[in-house]
Amino acid sequence: MEHEQLLQASTELMNHNLGYIRSMALGCAAKLGVADAIHHAGGRATMDDLRAALSLHPSKLPFLRRVMRVLVASGVFAHDEEEDDDDIYRLTPVSSLLVTATAGSGGRNLLPFVLLQLSPPLCVTPATSMAEWLTSGEEETPFEMTHGPGLWTVCSRDPELGELFNDAMAADSAFIMDVAIRGAGRQVFDKITSLVDVAGGTGTAARVVAAAFPHIKCTVLDLPHVIDSIPADHRGRDVVKFVAGDMMDFIPRADALLLKFVLHDWSDEDCMKILKRCKEAIPSREAGGKVIVIDVVVGSSTQAMCHGTQLLFDLLISTTLPGMQRGEKEWCKVFKEAGFTDYKISPVLGIRSIIEVFP
Ligand SMILES: C[S@@+](CC[C@H](N)C(=O)[O-])C[C@H]1O[C@@H](n2cnc3c(N)ncnc32)[C@H](O)[C@@H]1O
Repeated sequence: MEHEQLLQASTELMNHNLGYIRSMALGCAAKLGVADAIHHAGGRATMDDLRAALSLHPSKLPFLRRVMRVLVASGVFAHDEEEDDDDIYRLTPVSSLLVTATAGSGGRNLLPFVLLQLSPPLCVTPATSMAEWLTSGEEETPFEMTHGPGLWTVCSRDPELGELFNDAMAADSAFIMDVAIRGAGRQVFDKITSLVDVAGGTGTAARVVAAAFPHIKCTVLDLPHVIDSIPADHRGRDVVKFVAGDMMDFIPRADALLLKFVLHDWSDEDCMKILKRCKEAIPSREAGGKVIVIDVVVGSSTQAMCHGTQLLFDLLISTTLPGMQRGEKEWCKVFKEAGFTDYKISPVLGIRSIIEVFP
């Protein structure tokens, strides 16, 4: 290699190597609430505004400036350099998704989801043992190598981690279901009269469906520790019904079942078990029966950022759970082997698709 190429290669290598520092800078801004601080300052915040809003020690201000410099370079925040050297920070479309004040107004607050993906016990530490996992003959996931039990057990035993996980899923559901229902996904729910959100967490996705389609009777099935985390009086007043149980054993009957971010958690074998239970719970295709899967279809987009994000998400899932992100061929195999006859993929949700699966 020529000198220039060598230097370029070493720069690229170091950039890849330090990519996790970019993630940690994002985690730092998320934990401190930088996006909220800019939002509350009217959309433009000086370093002084940030120092006051974030209760930073004055001696740490130069370090915050360096954190912000990385996040501005990555497009998370925007920056105007003023003549008097008083930097002004602004939100970009990316950091607007971290403003908590917008929670509830169309669900555009993805902060809890960012905090989950950067959580040391749930996501970061397991991912550090990929190499040891690949050379180990054990069946356990990197998450189990780190913790012993799997993710659902850890979340049931540690209420704080359980809450972190459930809040993250609720934030993601509020966001993506709102986009789905306002956009091309709307017709997917049009003709349904009853829906069970299988492994539906604390019910956010089902609530979005119930609010948009008041004629749909919505039920949420999830594990007992998840359902029990919703206070009983809230559950009693909710527009959706809750059922605590194991989807491997039983799924309540409905016209349609929703599996959002569920099948990617499981091996092909377990997906087939879940899908067979689903098939038992719905009527024929002619009578309106279908399963609605919201998940990644790897390769659904040729856009480099979208495809690259699907691949990163695949590795995150496989270090956390016995699952994976699937391409169309892999989805087709799972659906057919579980006894379904047809499916339709609509790649209308960014890195995710809506897949209607018909009996
Ligand atoms: C990745 S989360 C998705 C939650 C929800 N569908 C969403 O997207 O917001 C997976 C969910 O599966 C639930 N789960 C795991 N094993 C289950 C089982 N055997 N039966 C029912 N739910 C289960 C977990 O408790 C968790 O809420």
